[in-house]
Amino acid sequence: MQSLLVTGGAGFIGSNFVRWVVGQTDARVVVLDKLTYAGRRDTLDGLPGDRVDLVVGDIADAHLVDRLVGAADAVVHFAAESHNDNSLRDPWPFIHTNIVGTFTLLQAARDHSTRFHHVSTDEVYGDLELDDPARFHETTPYNPSSPYSSSKAASDLLVRAWVRSFGVRATLSNCSNNYGPWQHIEKFIPRQITNILSGRRPKLYGAGRNVRDWIHVDDHNAAVWTILERGRLGETYLIGADGEKSNLDVMRAILRLMGQPEDAFDHVADRPGHDLRYAIDSSKLRAELGWTPAYRSFEDGLAATIEWYRGHEEWWRPLKEQVEAGYAQQGQ
Ligand code: NAD
Ligand code: TYD
Repeated sequence: MQSLLVTGGAGFIGSNFVRWVVGQTDARVVVLDKLTYAGRRDTLDGLPGDRVDLVVGDIADAHLVDRLVGAADAVVHFAAESHNDNSLRDPWPFIHTNIVGTFTLLQAARDHSTRFHHVSTDEVYGDLELDDPARFHETTPYNPSSPYSSSKAASDLLVRAWVRSFGVRATLSNCSNNYGPWQHIEKFIPRQITNILSGRRPKLYGAGRNVRDWIHVDDHNAAVWTILERGRLGETYLIGADGEKSNLDVMRAILRLMGQPEDAFDHVADRPGHDLRYAIDSSKLRAELGWTPAYRSFEDGLAATIEWYRGHEEWWRPLKEQVEAGYAQQGQ
């Protein structure tokens, strides 16, 4: 695997993946990214120019995609519209990128017989009850709730169909909620950190009883690499680090680690259709491919993430006003 095409490599998880690949392997990377509001050139700052190239373009551009996929040994497909709240405001970009974009990439992977890894989310499975001991596994039926999760579910099903009907050499992974450096400040954890750093009160949707299963982005990316190298073609692997926490507990941890009283936040309007709980059973990935998460403590990973946002104010500060204005319009 000497030459990788990484879609969405200027976004949160994709840019961390490119850093991980440059640090841990000899592969060369071409990033294909449209640089939407969520993708930034400077997420790739400091990476060696002889190992990483950025091509600015749309994954739904069939000519461009055909040329880049044809030149790669493998495609790792991160590019997506990724935020549930945005999908409730305007679903169209989610249909375009997540569905039409994935279709376009699959057609090129089919034409060039290129190895393909599709990065997806546990949200395709819908949600679990708070008091249900069950967790998601590879055979849990799809039951997505939002325009975001339904568009990701559609993309997963396209990948499965292109494997079965056209023999595309693909694997899929569905991961739980990621945290770490370079995450857009519209998302829960960096929004609260940057609220505190900019003198605003953190915002919790509803009562905050909803549960997310947190994983550090480097653990996700190490799992993606493991699947790319050793995963069985056609298979789906769930990625999770046993990190279930209520939003209220995460909020309190952020406040505590930042030296604030644990109740110094506001309850704001809940998200319509808000999924209650996500939880991943990753035993297939662990047993078959030997992956385990390196981050053992959520609090340590969270503390390091807080330090990263403290040290990268120039990266997030220019976005803050506009992100908060968008939320304020919805009472959030
Ligand atoms: P992100 O929003 O931070 O980054 C998405 C990137 O894709 C951006 O750089 C953006 O510019 C690019 N992009 C969007 N539309 C494009 C298009 N049409 N053509 C080319 N590039 C385009 O998202 P993220 O959080 O890094 O998520 C990456 C992937 O991981 C997504 O597929 C997402 O569904 C999946 N995922 C995310 C999480 C999470 O917690 N963030 C969890 C599980 C799975
Ligand atoms: P988010 O980071 O948007 O990820 P996802 O919707 O993919 O789970 O939100 C994580 C959780 O945090 C989710 O239950 C919604 C909640 N949330 C808040 O309580 N306050 C906020 O300001 C945001 C953005 C999210």
